Amino acid sequence: MADLTTKYLGLTLQNPVIIGSSGITNSVDNIIKMEENNAGAVVLKSIFEEQIMHETQKLIGINNDSMQPMMNGYKDIMQHRSYDYAEAFEYLSNFAKEHTLNDYLRFISEIKKVVKIPIIASINCAFTYDWHFFAKRIQEAGADAIELNIYVLPSDPKKTGKENEDVYLNIIQDVRQYVTIPVSIKISYYFSGLSNKLIELSKSGIAGMVLFNRPYSPDINIEEFKITADQIYSNPSEFTHTLRWVAILAGRLNCDIAAATGIHNDETVIKQLLAGANAVQITSAVYANGIQYINSIISGLENWMNKHNFKTIDDFRGKMSQAKLENPAAYERVQFMKLYSNIV
Ligand SMILES: Cc1cc2nc3c(=O)[nH]c(=O)nc-3n(C[C@H](O)[C@H](O)[C@H](O)COP(=O)(O)O)c2cc1C
Repeated sequence: MADLTTKYLGLTLQNPVIIGSSGITNSVDNIIKMEENNAGAVVLKSIFEEQIMHETQKLIGINNDSMQPMMNGYKDIMQHRSYDYAEAFEYLSNFAKEHTLNDYLRFISEIKKVVKIPIIASINCAFTYDWHFFAKRIQEAGADAIELNIYVLPSDPKKTGKENEDVYLNIIQDVRQYVTIPVSIKISYYFSGLSNKLIELSKSGIAGMVLFNRPYSPDINIEEFKITADQIYSNPSEFTHTLRWVAILAGRLNCDIAAATGIHNDETVIKQLLAGANAVQITSAVYANGIQYINSIISGLENWMNKHNFKTIDDFRGKMSQAKLENPAAYERVQFMKLYSNIV
């Protein structure tokens, strides 16, 4: 019998399949079912800065269009207000933070009472803010780890790569000062020097990295001239981008890697582990196939391990990483060449 246990963020998981942060991890009943279906761990739905801003707005009665605080962020709001108002705003903002957070903390405590699998809380942060306020309380509520979902879209032409990328380190340092539970980051691939920066971030004291978040992407309706949302759920062919970077970075980072995006079946779970991931996160596949599907992915992994005589995950993890390949260029190839395809 194969042993599927694995270490991720210093936590022992019964297997490497983690359910990614989303609406389906926002319910106690669902998380109980995830555990019954052998999930390795669950990442809770993120607490969003927008939630806090929205709560603050409601308290102050600011209208969305005039302030756009979600876009500008807390710091900007403070700059646009007189000192007195800023003080009042700060008071109300703290109240909103407490209010938003309390529901989340209650949720964490409740879940921790009913399941044994590790529960990873998630904070969505896109700008430097006092995230430690949340992190500290999340730790006290009993979460086993915190995933910081940091997505900085480098869209401001006035900002340099360094300015955008400093946000990651600022947030990590802020949070890590206040918590002792493991902290991981869930990130995008918008970095000026991806490998170099991720290796640097891996040395910041974080325990893991989720590669990669899947961005909400805009689309255009060409009849109604409207901006619409692209597919909310990933499709099974989207795993390759992550696979390349997991393989390139495996063994080079000072922290664990969880592969994410486009992982829809046991085969892609196995590929990501072979590339060097410590764990994988799945979301869209659970939406598409239901919570019981988690169990069939894990059975598929176990059957494959038995077939190939792998007793533990570490027996094959990273076997196909770039560092272990005879031809490491296989992961660096980006141009389509006739030579490498069967297409004439
Ligand atoms: C409906 C939905 C809600 C999501 N909410 C969150 C969230 O709150 N926080 C977060 O970090 N990621 C969120 N995600 C992103 C997923 O965790 C995951 O990274 C993404 O869907 C890619 O993985 P997949 O291909 O397995 O779906 C959400 C995804 C979906 C589909």
